[in-house]
Amino acid sequence: MKNIYLIGFMGTGKSAVGSVLAEQLGMACVEMDRQIETQQNMTITEIFERYGEAYFRDLETEFLRMQGSGRPVVVSCGGGSVLREENAALMREKGSIVLLTARPETIYERVKRSTNRPVLNGHMSVSDIGELMEKRRVRYEEVADLRVATDGRSIREICEEIQERMAEKQEQG
Ligand code: S3P
Repeated sequence: MKNIYLIGFMGTGKSAVGSVLAEQLGMACVEMDRQIETQQNMTITEIFERYGEAYFRDLETEFLRMQGSGRPVVVSCGGGSVLREENAALMREKGSIVLLTARPETIYERVKRSTNRPVLNGHMSVSDIGELMEKRRVRYEEVADLRVATDGRSIREICEEIQERMAEKQEQG
């Protein structure tokens, strides 16, 4: 089996879904942001403040390039990581890409207390979230192998749908 890359806007539940899905599939779960923080010994906010967003985006690419060819893993990806074509290409090459979606109102409720999402600094509102999401929507949709809505659903329900849909895709070849 190949890696599973969970992508989508901040607050769509990539980390929470990733850890349960990995457990169900007997795979390890890797959180891209946490790995980068550990490697750099800095929080995402500190990386953005000290070195800027472009540097952080390079770290995402580096992470995906270096990701080993060992046992397949579930990767919960940073929300902006697929914006760069090279990153999406690396994900495609190494696995399947699953997009998690949610409405701006849902996202806002999930992330409003977050202090480690620099992209939302000064933009923590339903309308700003909706605007940024709309800018990214086409990109998210074009790179994803399958799309799963998360509004009002439990982590288990979401994982169930991912597994069913992945199995369907496999059957279809
Ligand atoms: C970002 C999403 C964040 C993190 C960084 C930038 C983005 O990850 O990588 O703050 O541009 O959407 P999460 O989606 O895990 O919050």
